[in-house]
This record gives sequence, structure tokens and C-alpha cells, in this order.
Amino acid sequence: MLDWSGGAQALPYAGRLFFTAASMSFAPLDTSAALPLADTEIASLRQRLHNARHLLVLTGAGASAESGVPTFRDAQTGYWAQFSPEEMASEAGFLAHPQRVWDWYQYRRDLVRQAMPNAGHVALAQWQARHSGRMTLVTQNVDGLHQRAGSTPVLCLHGNLMDNRWLLPPKPCCDARFTEGDAPPQCPGCGNYLRPAVVWFGEALPHAELQQAQDAAKACDLMLVIGTSGHVYPAAGLAHIAARGGAHVVVINPEPTALDSVADRCWRLPSAQILPALLA
Ligand code: OAD
Repeated sequence: MLDWSGGAQALPYAGRLFFTAASMSFAPLDTSAALPLADTEIASLRQRLHNARHLLVLTGAGASAESGVPTFRDAQTGYWAQFSPEEMASEAGFLAHPQRVWDWYQYRRDLVRQAMPNAGHVALAQWQARHSGRMTLVTQNVDGLHQRAGSTPVLCLHGNLMDNRWLLPPKPCCDARFTEGDAPPQCPGCGNYLRPAVVWFGEALPHAELQQAQDAAKACDLMLVIGTSGHVYPAAGLAHIAARGGAHVVVINPEPTALDSVADRCWRLPSAQILPALLA
């Protein structure tokens, strides 16, 4: 089920989470790649936004970087620099070391509780509120910061960090209010584990959310791809769908990404810095 070597076209993995091969090399975030933007460039994209029939926004971990939430692939601070995705984001990894994986998610929960939405989250939420029905916001992030900034609706493709679910289909004895232990909590009747309600590698994304995101990718005429390395599918596939449908695709990221080749423009800037000016 798990696919670490990947390939966007690999049909057996349709609707399931997988990496492309290149995603396992960790490079330090090189902000020297950030380029100043000419005012005319910003004005031209603002005009496109104004005229857009439908805007699709896809965000990744970089959208929360300026809130102090580490991204996954940054060499110094990234989550996967300390632990591998196989260990920490797969059912096999959880079964091998349930306490280690559970503790890691508790650590991330504490970190996210202390984080605040940044200016980029807020700018997106305000634009969405001002232009009701014209934006579909899709996120790979499980931190809930878009929602806390006021965005609604948000299509969460990878679940929610703060929620739990049962590892195995729950039996009548499985009641999340009455569990035993916390390493991780277990059903006292059958031993079933609670686990974080996030999508792990090889697992299916929520069907309705993925379908709505793909429909929006087909229908949009403008797409912003913000703070994602573009290595994890099916989310990254949304940019390919939008570009194939003729949408204007803009990548906002201080570093090069795997989706730059499908983009019409790449803005090498941190999102919290540029989104308020773009979406004001
Ligand atoms: P990554 O950690 O792969 O990539 C983060 C991206 O954010 C990189 O391209 C950075 O250059 C960029 N970035 C860093 N700071 C930024 C800033 N201030 N503004 C804009 N961009 C910035 O994270 P994702 O692409 O989101 O899945 O990873 C996708 C999925 O892979 C995640 O949802 C996670 C991971 O494994 C699960 O945990 C299920």
C-alpha cells in the first residue's frame, strides 16, 4: 500500500497519500532565493484576482511556517529531519512503536495549540469572506490555523491533528470517553487503540473533500499554490488538473518546488509577507 518511490500517474494509489521520489531529500530553507516583486507584478495579479470567476487555493506546511509550525522537509527544523515518514506517518510505524508515534503527535498538538494564525491565513480568510462562493480553499495542513483565522469552508485533505479515531473499526465496547492508558489510549474491552485522525501514507484521503477539490481544480480560472513542496499526491495533482483546464497557476514559495513547471508565475516569497498585499 505504501509507495515511497512514487509516480503521479501510479493508478493503484489514486486517492491515497504518496510521495514522489525526489521528496525524500532534505534541503535547508534557502531564503536567499526570495526575490523582491515589482509593484507592476503585484498589480497584474491583483487584476487577475479581481476578474477571476473562481479561485482555487492550495496550501501546505509553508503557509504555517511564519506561525512557528515547522514544515516537514526543512533540514534544520523540519519534522522529517528528526523522524522519517515511515516511522511517524504510517500505520506500520504506529504499530511498531505506538507510544513513540502517539507522543510525537501530542508534541505537535502542544506546538499547534501555542501557534497563532499568521497574516497570510488572515488575508485568505478575509478575501474568502468578502468574495463569498468565489474561493475554494484546500489545505494539506492538519493544524487548523486556516479555520482559526476565520476561513470557512476549508477542505482538509489530510485530516485534523486535534482529532482522534479508532485504529481498527470500533466494536460496541469502543467508547472514546472511556479509555485506558495514554500511550496511546486503548479500549479496555478489546485493546483497540485511539490514533490521530490524520491521513497517513498509503491511506485514502477523505473522498468528499478530495472530489470537491478536484472539481474546483477543473472549474477554476486562477489557482494559488502556497507553501507546499508539491511532492505529495493527490494534493499536488490539483495544480496539474487546474493547469490542464487552462487556469492561471501561481506558486508562492521562497524555494523552488516540484510544481514550478506547471505554474505560469512563481513568486519566491514567504506567504505571510506577500498575501496581505495581494489579497487586500
Ligand atoms: P513540506 O514540508 O514538504 O514543504 C513545505 C514547503 O513550504 C517548502 O516548499 C518550503 O519551501 C515552503 N515554505 C517554507 N516557509 C515558507 C513560507 N514562509 N511561505 C511559503 N512557503 C514556505 O510540506 P507540504 O508540501 O505541505 O502529510 O507536505 C505535504 C504533506 O507531506 C504534508 O501534509 C504532510 C507531509 O508528509 C502528512 O503528514 C499526512
